[in-house]
Amino acid sequence: MKVYIPQIKKVDPEMADLIVKEGKRQEETLMMIPSENIASEAVQQAVGSCLGNKYAEGYPGRRYYQGQEFVDHIENLTKKRAEKVFGVAHANVQALSGSPANLAVYLGLLKPGDTILGLDLAHGGHLTHGAKVSTSGIYYKSVSYTLNKQGKMDYEAIEKLALKHKPQIIVAGITAYPLKVNWSKFAQIADKVGAYLMTDIAHLSGLIAAGVYPSPAPYAHIITTTTHKTLRGPRGAMIMVTKKGVKKNPDLPKIIDSAVFPRLQGGPHMNAIAGIGIALKESMSPRFKKYGEQIIKNSQTLAKELKSKGFHLVAGGSNTHLILIDLRNKGVMGNLAAEALEAANIVLNRNSVPFDTNPPFYSSGIRMGTPGITSRGMKEKEMIKLASWISKIIDDIARIQSEQELTFDQIKKSATRKKIIASSKVIKEVKAEVIKLCKKFPVLGEY
Ligand SMILES: Cc1ncc(COP(=O)(O)O)c(C=O)c1O
Repeated sequence: MKVYIPQIKKVDPEMADLIVKEGKRQEETLMMIPSENIASEAVQQAVGSCLGNKYAEGYPGRRYYQGQEFVDHIENLTKKRAEKVFGVAHANVQALSGSPANLAVYLGLLKPGDTILGLDLAHGGHLTHGAKVSTSGIYYKSVSYTLNKQGKMDYEAIEKLALKHKPQIIVAGITAYPLKVNWSKFAQIADKVGAYLMTDIAHLSGLIAAGVYPSPAPYAHIITTTTHKTLRGPRGAMIMVTKKGVKKNPDLPKIIDSAVFPRLQGGPHMNAIAGIGIALKESMSPRFKKYGEQIIKNSQTLAKELKSKGFHLVAGGSNTHLILIDLRNKGVMGNLAAEALEAANIVLNRNSVPFDTNPPFYSSGIRMGTPGITSRGMKEKEMIKLASWISKIIDDIARIQSEQELTFDQIKKSATRKKIIASSKVIKEVKAEVIKLCKKFPVLGEY
């Protein structure tokens, strides 16, 4: 990756060396973690700009420090663009990241002990959707819904839970679910029990901006999103109040703004806010629509190819940007698969699958996504190659494991996994192929 850091090289060679190495890693590996992406150079320049020097506590026109002439314009511009792209009544662009954005919504609308109904972490929800280890599950009563045996949303079961627990907020959002969510069904349930419907589109906002995934704006009261995933912005987040939300509670925009500042955060990161504004502008271009379409085409091609090679895909496939593979039929632990693929420069993550029989730390699945590799310009032809490489590696690992008669407990040990990986010739061969492919598709090439 083009890393232009002449001053860092002069001032801090040690840090410069690490940044250059990370750039090289990104250039030579396939970024297949579905929550990662490559921000444009324009976005990266905004993040590294003088805007990071400015304190701007408060909101445009109502700040606590002087010198706000230009940052007020920047925040208003970004806010207006967000409202236009997502068709909402109000956008707060100050949330520092996805988790604080979700917590700000809870802080604004709930009292400690109130009830949140969200998707179980082990079934594809996020920590902040009520997981017991997160603030969302510590300060609030969290109830989780799960997927059905086919790995799909079970709207009847969600309705039953909503009627039983009468949550104040229902969270519809995903972090590892490969199918489109039916926002309308969630809205019917929330409206029936008088709950706020909060949709967390962190993974989906770029697809929604591109018009290739249904927008929750007509159905939700509140929409939260990160800005660094499919949207291709800097690390950051937004909280949006829909027209439906304002109708339910005309004070919602004010409630959200004061939950973000002063209740949860201090000064906003103006450099990130400018970067978000630029990403939103980029998302309005016809080029971005094509990009969104290609993400899904790539994911579906990869899913079809993997299925044809005997992989078991949760929910049967993908109509989004991500794929979740249940590796139990291949007999390979998620950790080993993810580490073996990383050794071949294919970077993704291990993941629990619905009704996983393995503990979360040694989960049975792997999760992969196409936003990052689509940003480099890869298309269906490359997905076919990729599926074949993934399949060859998993099959080789399974072969080595069974030839050496290794048990689950032995494979839990990192040293055993390293030995298996080191002994695979296939991994070395695929790694060379991956590096060749990466050279053809530079990180900030066309998409
Ligand atoms: C659905 C969802 N919401 C929230 C977040 C949290 O975002 P952050 O890591 O920026 O706090 C994530 C992160 O992966 C996510 O997938």
